[in-house]
Amino acid sequence: MEKKKFYITTPIYYPSDKLHIGHTYCTVATDALARYHRLRGEEVMFLTGTDEHGQKIEDKAREAGVTPKEFVDRIVEGPGGVLDLWKLMNISNDRFIRTTDDYHVQSVQRIFKRMHDNGDIYKGTYKGKYCKPCESFWTESQLKDGCCPDCGREVQDAEEEAYFFRLSKYAGRIRDLLENTDFLEPRSRVNEMVKNFIDPGLEDLCVSRTSFSWGIPVDFDPGHVVYVWVDALSNYITALGYENDRYHDYEQGWWPGVNIVGKEIVRFHSIIWPAILMSLGEPLPKKCFGHGWLLLDGGKMSKSKGNVVDPYILAEKFGVDALRFFLMRTFPFGSDGNFSNELLIQTINTDLANDLGNLVSRTTAMAGKYFGGQLPGDAGATEDEQYLDQLYAQAREGGGAVNLALGFPEGDPVKYDVELIRAALELRDKYEAQMEAFAPHNALGEVFKVIQRANKYIDETAPWALAKDMEQNGPRLAHVLYNLLEATRICGILLTPFMPESMEKLFAQTGAGAEGRTWDSAARWGVLRPGTAVTKGENLFPRIDMDQAIQELEAAAEAAKKAALPDIELEPQLETPVDFDTFCKSDFRVVKVKACEAVKKSAKLLRFTLDDGTGTDRQILSGIHQWYEPEDLVGKTLLAIVNLPPRKMMGLESCGMLLSAVHTEKGEEALHLVMVDDAIPAGAKLC
Ligand code: MSP
Repeated sequence: MEKKKFYITTPIYYPSDKLHIGHTYCTVATDALARYHRLRGEEVMFLTGTDEHGQKIEDKAREAGVTPKEFVDRIVEGPGGVLDLWKLMNISNDRFIRTTDDYHVQSVQRIFKRMHDNGDIYKGTYKGKYCKPCESFWTESQLKDGCCPDCGREVQDAEEEAYFFRLSKYAGRIRDLLENTDFLEPRSRVNEMVKNFIDPGLEDLCVSRTSFSWGIPVDFDPGHVVYVWVDALSNYITALGYENDRYHDYEQGWWPGVNIVGKEIVRFHSIIWPAILMSLGEPLPKKCFGHGWLLLDGGKMSKSKGNVVDPYILAEKFGVDALRFFLMRTFPFGSDGNFSNELLIQTINTDLANDLGNLVSRTTAMAGKYFGGQLPGDAGATEDEQYLDQLYAQAREGGGAVNLALGFPEGDPVKYDVELIRAALELRDKYEAQMEAFAPHNALGEVFKVIQRANKYIDETAPWALAKDMEQNGPRLAHVLYNLLEATRICGILLTPFMPESMEKLFAQTGAGAEGRTWDSAARWGVLRPGTAVTKGENLFPRIDMDQAIQELEAAAEAAKKAALPDIELEPQLETPVDFDTFCKSDFRVVKVKACEAVKKSAKLLRFTLDDGTGTDRQILSGIHQWYEPEDLVGKTLLAIVNLPPRKMMGLESCGMLLSAVHTEKGEEALHLVMVDDAIPAGAKLC
C-alpha cells in the first residue's frame, strides 16, 4: 500500500539578524510534528528555509559594506547561522529553500507572469512616504512619530509605479474558506482575520517595487522587482518543483501541505497565499496553523530591544532535547507564552529529572541490582494469568477498549498492574488526538500522566520490600520491573518526536529493540522480550541547581551581549566651534605626581599631590581608581587644567583636573591619563 504523504513547512526566516528562541520555537514545533508523522509510518516532506530579499536586507548589507548576497550567505551558512542552528537543534527538515536559489527565482518569475497574463496582476501607482536621504519608501504605519523609522528625518508624500495583485477579487472565496472550513486554526484566528481584514474590504496588494533592487526582477518589465509576498509565499510550492525543473514533487502528490506560521503572519498565509493559489488555479493548503509568540517579560522579543534569548546558550547549558521539550511542553501551541529561565529550569527538573529521569534510573538500577540486568524469561507472567491473557490479547488485536470489568479484591497488588497497563495502553490514542489537533503541549501532558502513574506504581509495589525474600517474591518482583519497562518503552516512543536523541539512550538502557520502538508497538503491551539486557546508563536528565544556573546564564548572556558590541566606540566630535580666545582661557600645565593615595570611603577617588612648577604643592582629586592603582602613578608626568575653580569632594579640595583620553570598549568606558615625556619640566604651559 502506498504510504500517506505528509508535507509540512515552517515560515522561511529573514536572515537579517541571528535567529533567537522565538524562531527556534516555531521550527522545533514543526520538527516535532514532522517526526510524529514519520513515526506513524507516513512519508514526510519537511521544508524550511530563508526569505532573503527586500529593502531591509539591502540596507543592512550596505551598512556592513558587503553585497546583499554576501550578507545573507553569512547569516544563513556562516558559523552560528541559520543552518548551524537547525543542525544544533536536531531539525530533521528534508529540504531547505533559499529565495535566492536560482530555481526559486525562475519559478517566481513564471508565477508572476502567469498571474499578469491572466489579468490578476496589473500596473498602477503605489502611494507612500519617501525618505530622501535613505532612498526608502514607507507606509504610513511604518513611520515612527511621522518620520523615517531608520534615520528619524522627515518624509515626503511620494508615488511609485508598481504592479498590483487583484486580491479584492478573491474576497468572497477567502471569506468562505475561513468561515466555512477548518483551513485556519486555531479558530480564534479566523475571527481576527475576518473582523480585521475581510469585513473592512480587501484591497488590492502591491506586488512589485522600483525603489530598491534587491529582489527577483520582473522579467517582462525591467526596473521592477517582485515585492515580498509573491516571492516569499511561493516557496512552499517552488521547493516542490512548481514551475521549475529542480524538483518534481509537486506533480508527485506532495502538495497541498500544512503551513505552520507565527500569529503575525497568519494574515499573509490565510488570505494572500490562498488568493495567489486561486489565481494560479492550484489547490489550497490543507491547513494553516497560527501559533503564538514566546514573550519576554510580557513583551515581544526583538533585536532592537536587546531582549532576545539565544538558543545556543540554552542548548549548550541544558542540552538540545531538554530545550526542545521545554518549548513544546510548557506553552499551549496556539497561544502566547512567557519565556523565563526559571520556568525552563523548573520544567527540566520536574518533568525530566524527577519524573522521567527517576523512572528510568530507578527501574534500570533495580533490574541490575536484583536480576543482574536481565529479567527472567517468565517476567511477563502474573498471578492472574487469565486476566492478563485477556488484557494482552485485546491490546494486541488493537480491538477497542480493554475489558477491565474483572474486579480485584482491595489491596490486591495486581490491581496496580492493571491500572498502569490500562493507562499505558490508552495513551497512544489520547496522544494521537492531541497531536492531530496541533496541541503538542497536551500530548506531552498525557505522556507525563503515565510517567507519573508508573512512578506511583513503584511506591505501591515497593520492589525493595519484595527483594528481601527473593525465593518467595522473585517472580513477582520480575513482573513489576517488566511492567515498568513496558510503560517506559511506550512513553519513550511517544516522546521520540520531541527528544529524539535522549529517547535513543532511554531505549538502549531499557532494552527496547527496533520492534519495541514503533508506533504500532506503542499500543501493545508485552512487546519487550523478558530476557533482554537492561543497563543503567548515564543519568538522562541531571537535576539543575536553579540559583547557580541562573547566575551562569546571566553571565553568559552578558558576555554574548558584550561580544556583539563594537570593539571601540568614540565620542562624536563637537560640531559647535569654540573661538580661540575662549580656548586660550584654559590654563593647561605639565604636572609631576609627588604622591598619590586612595581617598578613604570612596571607591573611585584618588588624591594627587602634584608639583605644578610653582613651588607649592597642588592637590587634585580624580575619580579614576577603577583604572589605576595609586602607587603606579607616583613619579609620572601628566597634564592638568589648573584654573578651574576649586571643588570639594568627600571633604577634600580639588584644585584643577587631570587630563585623560576616554573611549568605549566592548560597551565599557576605558580611560587613559595623558602622560607626557618626563623630560618636560613641571609647570610647562600647553599652548
Ligand atoms: N520571512 C517572513 C515569513 C515568510 S513565510 C512565507 C518572516 N520571517 S521572520 O524571520 O520574521 O519570522 C519567522 C517566524 O518566526 C514567524 O512565524 C514568526 O512568528 C516566528 N517568530 C519570530 N519571533 C517569535 C517569537 N518571539 N515567538 C514565536 N515565534 C516567533 O516573518
